[in-house]
Amino acid sequence: MTTSDNQDILIHTEAAVTTITINRVGKKNSITAAMYGALADALASASRDAAVRVVVIQGHETIFSAGNDISDFLSTPPDHADAPVFRFMRGISTFAKPIVASVCGPAVGIGTTLLLHCDLIYAGDNAAFSMPFVNLGLCPEAGSSLLVPQLMGHQRAAEALLLGEPFMAETALEMGLINRIVPPSEANALAQRQAQKLATKPLSALLETKRLMKQGNAAVVAARIEEEGASFGRMLSEPAAREAFAAFIEKRRPDFSNV
Ligand code: COA
Repeated sequence: MTTSDNQDILIHTEAAVTTITINRVGKKNSITAAMYGALADALASASRDAAVRVVVIQGHETIFSAGNDISDFLSTPPDHADAPVFRFMRGISTFAKPIVASVCGPAVGIGTTLLLHCDLIYAGDNAAFSMPFVNLGLCPEAGSSLLVPQLMGHQRAAEALLLGEPFMAETALEMGLINRIVPPSEANALAQRQAQKLATKPLSALLETKRLMKQGNAAVVAARIEEEGASFGRMLSEPAAREAFAAFIEKRRPDFSNV
């Protein structure tokens, strides 16, 4: 197993497939700035390496990711365009080679929104997707304000993004977010098998096909990620987010009556 400097992100390349594992189970695979940096570096390296044809992103059988590490966000807010979280978002949203994801357990915030930039997604039957940005006093990120309504229509997107309601694997399958539901113990292996299949195909044809599939949306996605990032960065220090984060850390319900 090859690892990055950051042991919370494991990187393993074999037979033309780079597998990136989010590996911070004790903190529910929540993602710190350092982990975003490692994820961005891993994607950049897979992009450059001619021997890599496909990337797999996976978590643990019980948890994909609880999203941004809330304490880390408070101490290391992403307040500039080159902040690791923005580097990661740019990297994954413009990644030219196929990305396969395996998702089990909760996928919160970026745990769900990063999937909008993956090509094939296999989910355990315990997968639970949620984008509770509003509940945290924040707005959507990673292009989700554009891509979620495109995927599921405005009204269902409103349930997911305005109410912040979670949805389970069956709903995600019906809406077209994921490709297949399997027992959690089988999701990573299935993602690997599909990645291996992709890796035997001509890379030039994969690259051109993915480029053409994404071309219509590419510029508008990039612009939306930037716009969301500016709002998200500003909102992080505003009263609603401060109250939400304080409530999370103090393990109490937030009081939004004044914000
Ligand atoms: N940031 C920082 N720490 C987090 C975290 C996050 N996003 N999510 C979980 N953790 C930590 C908890 O604080 C706890 O730490 P502790 O053991 O030191 O107290 C540990 O991970 C376990 O979390 P817990 O909430 O007890 O696990 P659970 O199985 O009951 O619930 C989740 C799992 C994912 C449903 C729940 O942790 C959750 O909702 N997390 C917050 C998600 C969120 O709002 N993310 C931000 C999106 S922008």
